Amino acid sequence: MKAISIIGSTGSVGVTTLDVVARFPDRFRVVAMAAGRNLELLADQIRRFRPQLVSVETPELARDLADRIRPLEVTILHGNEGAIAVATHPEAKLLMSALVGALGLPPTLAAIKAGKDIAFANKEVLVVAGEVVTRAVREYGVRLLPVDSEHNAVFQCIEGRPPETVKRIILTASGGPFRQWPAERFGEITVKDALNHPTWRMGNKITIDSATLMNKGLEVIEAHWLFGLPPEKIDVVIHPQSVIHSMVELIDGSVIAEMAITDMAIPAAFALAYPDRLPLDHLPPLSLIDCANLSFEQPDLSRFPCLRLAYEALRAGGTMAACLNAANEELVAGFLAGRIRFVDIPKHIEAIMSHHHNAPARTLEDVIGTDGWARAMARELMGAGSAEAQA
Ligand SMILES: NC(=O)c1ccc[n+]([C@@H]2O[C@H](COP(=O)([O-])OP(=O)(O)OC[C@H]3O[C@@H](n4cnc5c(N)ncnc54)[C@H](OP(=O)(O)O)[C@@H]3O)[C@@H](O)[C@H]2O)c1
Repeated sequence: MKAISIIGSTGSVGVTTLDVVARFPDRFRVVAMAAGRNLELLADQIRRFRPQLVSVETPELARDLADRIRPLEVTILHGNEGAIAVATHPEAKLLMSALVGALGLPPTLAAIKAGKDIAFANKEVLVVAGEVVTRAVREYGVRLLPVDSEHNAVFQCIEGRPPETVKRIILTASGGPFRQWPAERFGEITVKDALNHPTWRMGNKITIDSATLMNKGLEVIEAHWLFGLPPEKIDVVIHPQSVIHSMVELIDGSVIAEMAITDMAIPAAFALAYPDRLPLDHLPPLSLIDCANLSFEQPDLSRFPCLRLAYEALRAGGTMAACLNAANEELVAGFLAGRIRFVDIPKHIEAIMSHHHNAPARTLEDVIGTDGWARAMARELMGAGSAEAQA
């Protein structure tokens, strides 16, 4: 019986994780869960999975939750400290890291330092602090098991192979809802258009990132840290059917691909049970007949500059990726709130990156400083943008 903690239990990945846990009650036990504001769902999860400890965003929400779950005896904490307590629960062997954004960094790093294996969904953590996190993973001897479907695919294709036999990895991307839109129409993209992802159902932030292709850019940076490859050995190909989740090319020209239906239960179950495999009999099989036409395209960096900006941040090294990420998080929130246009996201990120004084990213303090600076600058740009829009 493996004891696990989950941060982000009420999110898309968190809910999928709990569904896998519920299907294998003899294998997994949830000891702690952290969420943000969705108390109704969290209260249901507490009744169902009976964790010892939970955490929510604020003290007010913690009090509200206590009223909702009475008479159950559960310790309820809040904020960053609460998420860290959940992530480092003494009984947990593994943490499912499924918060969204850089806020997942402190609890994920704390869990690594407490010796927990990490089922790793929260990609922004590696984008912001790849050097700090991977150093801690080596130092504390824990496993970082990718849940992101592309990295999970690469992990499966690469496993057991000597690093010198890997020529490059090829991350696949669906291309998002605007793959076939002409550049002239990008100015009219609405939030509703952008939330309409063609192949995956996910949280709002990653769905917008998929529409701008920033998600693929973040994944390139994530892949660099997970697999230790330089940017020139990490390629992206648009594959609208999302059947091949990613590929690895070996030095002899063999290309190994991982294929599956688009269901996050597969990579989540892989990471939870590793190195075992779970029978996910409830899922429909992949029908090769139904997906007989697999196609591949070059990403268009002029319509989707976010992917280019992510490569640039990775090549620049240091705190540039933390800058890119923080700017993106703020601007995506601004777009979702109707404060800026879709096309403003890459435009503002590029402006913020061009003003950033890049520096080494060896400590948490290095990246936290950059994160704060880039967020402030993004808010300033959005303020100016809103004022212009109103004028
Ligand atoms: N969704 C996917 O299929 C998928 C695939 C690959 C990778 N990922 C990555 O996995 C991560 C999670 O994605 P997601 O789609 O599951 O996101 P999501 O549905 O938006 O869920 C985010 C989770 O974080 C919690 N949260 C947000 N703000 C918080 C705060 N201030 N304090 C505490 N908790 C907070 C949310 O809680 P409340 O809802 O309770 O507020 C929720 O549990 C992201 O990094 C994403 O890039 C996701």
